[in-house]
Amino acid sequence: MTPERLALLPLADLLPGQMKCVVVDGLPIGVANVDGQVYAFDDACRHEGGPLSSGVLINDTVTCPWHGWTYRLRSGKAVVPPVGIRIRVYPVVIIEGVICADVDWGDK
Ligand code: FES
Repeated sequence: MTPERLALLPLADLLPGQMKCVVVDGLPIGVANVDGQVYAFDDACRHEGGPLSSGVLINDTVTCPWHGWTYRLRSGKAVVPPVGIRIRVYPVVIIEGVICADVDWGDK
């Protein structure tokens, strides 16, 4: 299935070290700026759905604000037990200063 390219927010609105949540068609997408590298990911923790973009960003990991599960943004993999759980991550492109993510909805 062909992914849909979604415009999320201007790059200028996401400073290095910041995370934000953008909701597209009911899908909360977290966006993080790690020293200029931008990541997009499901903004719902695999534990109980905590808002990851409200958590803590350290290097390329995000820690959930509710109970501390931590994921690597590059791969989506959890880095503390339960290792093997993962969140979806989305390819990011910057087009004319706008952060865009390619999302495969799977069921459209
Ligand atoms: S909801 Fe994220 S660690 Fe519990």
